[in-house]
Amino acid sequence: MIRTHNCGELTAKDISREVTLSGWVASRRDHGEIIFMDLRDKHGITQIVFDPAKNKDAHKAAHELRSEYCVKISGKVSPRPEGTVNPKVVTGEIEVDVTGIEVLSTSETVPFEIKDDIEVTEELRLKYRYLDLRRSTMQEKLKIKHKAYKFITNFLDGEGFISVETPILTKSTPEGARDYLVPSRVQAGSFYALPQSPQIFKQLLMVAGIEKYFQIVRCFRDEDLRADRQPEFTQLDMEMSFVEQDDILGVCERLFKGLFSEIMGRDLDIPFPRMDYTEAMDRYGSDKPDTRFDVFLHDLTGDVEGCEFKVFQNVVSEGGKIMALAAPGYGSISRKEIDDLTSFVGEYGAKGLAYFKVEEDKLSSPITKFFSPEVLDKFKEKTGAKTGDMIFMVADTSEVVYDSLGALRSKIGREKGLIDNDRYDFLWIVNFPLFRFNKDEKKWVSEHHPFTSFRKEDMEYLDKGELGKITSLSYDLVLNGSEIGSGSIRIHDRVIQQKIFNALGISAEACKQKFGFLLEAFQYGPPPHGGVAFGMDRLVTLFTKDASIREVIPFPKTQKGVCPLTGAPSAVGETQLRELGLKLRMG
Ligand code: AMO
Ligand code: AMP
Repeated sequence: MIRTHNCGELTAKDISREVTLSGWVASRRDHGEIIFMDLRDKHGITQIVFDPAKNKDAHKAAHELRSEYCVKISGKVSPRPEGTVNPKVVTGEIEVDVTGIEVLSTSETVPFEIKDDIEVTEELRLKYRYLDLRRSTMQEKLKIKHKAYKFITNFLDGEGFISVETPILTKSTPEGARDYLVPSRVQAGSFYALPQSPQIFKQLLMVAGIEKYFQIVRCFRDEDLRADRQPEFTQLDMEMSFVEQDDILGVCERLFKGLFSEIMGRDLDIPFPRMDYTEAMDRYGSDKPDTRFDVFLHDLTGDVEGCEFKVFQNVVSEGGKIMALAAPGYGSISRKEIDDLTSFVGEYGAKGLAYFKVEEDKLSSPITKFFSPEVLDKFKEKTGAKTGDMIFMVADTSEVVYDSLGALRSKIGREKGLIDNDRYDFLWIVNFPLFRFNKDEKKWVSEHHPFTSFRKEDMEYLDKGELGKITSLSYDLVLNGSEIGSGSIRIHDRVIQQKIFNALGISAEACKQKFGFLLEAFQYGPPPHGGVAFGMDRLVTLFTKDASIREVIPFPKTQKGVCPLTGAPSAVGETQLRELGLKLRMG
């Protein structure tokens, strides 16, 4: 038998028992005569004692042991001597006196220690991910994800959902990122796309009468990577027929209440609050606001009209916005810090950052001279700034103002410790615009995706081409400032769907080529339907309080999309390329 017990279970109750344990050498301490070893497996650590008086051979063999050797030991459970009991671990009352040892496999010197706190680069951790995952902190994260998936599957099963798989080798889907393409050998010159999500298939499953679908599924997007983005990530994907928005939000809220109770031992209040998209932008400068702290944006565009400050005048006359926020306690920051914040907002396109230090009886700033005392009073009154605060303002297009002040707000929240890390603020953002004008491409694009339905009463705007006025029936779920999910009621009318494609400038030919099969399916009695998808990696990262989703993905890619463990992506040989009918232009 390779083991009778695991390394995390023996206690005083087992004293005198003959046991066999297997695991890795976590540490070895040579105390002259007696050698101590910590033996580790996924369940815990047990102290092993090699006493030459009790077993000479085993003691001799212990001299050869090195960290991370995989070994099997047999021995007898003994109480630890007085004063050496460790009440912090389950096995802290006992140790095992070895009678026999077998080395199952040896180990080279590991590139980093297998312990909770290690200070090594992420690159090295990813290269030796199998060692990184040996650490109990990492094992804990995998367990949390597993528990979440298990709960979700059981919960949705109880609600009448069934899990249905959808293809990975498929056609391009419309989430807006670049596709990963897979060349076909059999159909040389043709490509599959990896799904950015199962969006179209889950809608087809509604046409198929599945009514309640879910899938915990991998999605693939070729986009620039960040801390909360990976090229492949996992969604909890759901779709339901014969439902309205409230039905979908209701199931999700019950799901999250159960999940939080299961994993975090917390009782969430449901329903979650809902906020209009416009309110989120106006008050927080973001469609995924962190509502755990109360710093708000304020619109001063109307108040600065007629002021002498050229920058503001120009922005007003060009239809832009001037907005402000009061940064608590920032009144005393240095010139250098102001410059740093100016560069920070500059990354979001802001051309400057106006600032007013709030003193007892006045505002002070190099630009106060351009504003009347009444207007300056207004700044203070509207922003609610107090003595010792700093009022920051950005004047620009609304997009730049929201982006830059929204980011500044988050930075202030983090830097000033305004965020209560123990809080979980869920928030639905609703009533998004259906379309957004993409300035770079000079065309209207879907805010979510082109299958999103919209308010019935906005049909006239679609007909008149006033696309910016249409409000969609979509919703995002935000948790602590992170977008963890997104969904919508879908269009199930072929004619309306076609109108949306037209509005997006997708030609009839392109439509047929890309989504023809969906429009065709819609000829056969599609039910009204809607759904949602949650980013599981983001969600679990909020459970584990990690800074990056890479921490909860067993084998993630780096920021550059590389897997340091396998070396993927990598070059392929000429034969393979030829088989696929491909020729590289470079290299
Ligand atoms: P969306 O594109 O908003 O919607 O994706 C849903 C959720 O998936 C997560 N997510 C990501 N997580 C990690 N890395 C990424 N690159 C990444 N991209 C997205 C986010 C996001 O909220 N088919 C629609 C859903 C629907 O309408 O039902 C969709 O995929 O948490
Ligand atoms: P300047 O006139 O460029 O010396 O700028 C005077 C102050 O106004 C500086 O603090 C700038 O950062 C600020 N400023 C310049 N442009 C903008 C803008 N678009 N929005 C907000 N503040 C600005």
